[in-house]
Amino acid sequence: MNYLPKRLTNRANRRSFIKKGLAAAGAATAGSVLLASPEDHSGKLTKGDAAILRFLAAAEILETDFWVQYNELGGIPDSEVPGGSGNPTYTAALKVLDGDMDQYIHDNTEDEFTHQNFINAYLASKGAATVNLEQFRTLPGSTATGSSGILRLTNLMQLTLDTSWWTRYRSRANNPDLDPGFTFPQAIPGLAGGQFPAIPRSNADLSPDAHIQAIANTAGFHMPTIEQGGNSLYPSLAQRVTHSEVLRILLSIGPTETAHFQTWQDKAGNAPPLTDPTNGLVFPDLNSPPFGGEDFQTNLIMPEPCPFLSRKLPVCSIIRPTETKGAAKGALKFLTAMGLFIGQSQEFFAFLGDLAEDADEARRGGQ
Ligand SMILES: [Fe+2]
Ligand SMILES: [Fe+2]
Repeated sequence: MNYLPKRLTNRANRRSFIKKGLAAAGAATAGSVLLASPEDHSGKLTKGDAAILRFLAAAEILETDFWVQYNELGGIPDSEVPGGSGNPTYTAALKVLDGDMDQYIHDNTEDEFTHQNFINAYLASKGAATVNLEQFRTLPGSTATGSSGILRLTNLMQLTLDTSWWTRYRSRANNPDLDPGFTFPQAIPGLAGGQFPAIPRSNADLSPDAHIQAIANTAGFHMPTIEQGGNSLYPSLAQRVTHSEVLRILLSIGPTETAHFQTWQDKAGNAPPLTDPTNGLVFPDLNSPPFGGEDFQTNLIMPEPCPFLSRKLPVCSIIRPTETKGAAKGALKFLTAMGLFIGQSQEFFAFLGDLAEDADEARRGGQ
């Protein structure tokens, strides 16, 4: 068995973090197995299935954390999604995108809680180690009225967004899996070139009107940006799970991420064109030149068909990308690049990197 020596020689330093993190998980969750040998992480699951589920559990914990921040300020805090008390000015700005934004934010937040809880509970039910990120809850969040003021895992106040998914899903000619070098144009180029808050950082961000609207617009584009990532991650990882029940979990949660993406893409298209007077961030009119046409038109919210697997086959309306190689590390890179973890520790990145690396080592039919 070369598993242990490989870890000890190549990745000894980083592996010490995963042990710390998993041990914390074990302490917090009855039934978790502590770490006498690598196989003990997996319980009755294969090593690969447990690793994929653990990476997804971590991703869902992080998703839950930032959705809670949206719900505290712009959603509907209640017994289903507790925390915070709402910020009327931010909520009103979000409602410019859709009168039901607060309800949708609430429901998306509740979904993420159930994803993280279910995956961890399933791991525990199979005797596998679960994921607990509480040791990394160190980031100060918003101080605006309505925020609970608790410490956070994620940062919604310095986002840099890649909104090229907008044109990727409208392209009939290109698929990132077939054309890895192809650059899909950004919907909101300004969001890719700076750091922008998606929630009011403090009450100072609640005016002038065009500034808080720009913050709501940034949220409006952040929500689909992140949910389209989840909507690719599940089918990408599903290709490497072994047991049919684990496959069923991925195939059943993944499409709810797609439902989130579809909803938020529609709302993003309603973000009013404006320029933020405080920082110059521009939300252009996507229906007029130099934008407009099928690549930008805001009511095209379903995937256009594109080449899939081979250009010898007919085009197909699909989720893209779904390449499985390196999918977990790619997802972590995507989340990191958007600034979601600005302020987190080296230990945090090492732990998440370990989880992603283990998930990407999983092979279908593995032990
Ligand atoms: Fe989720
Ligand atoms: Fe989601």
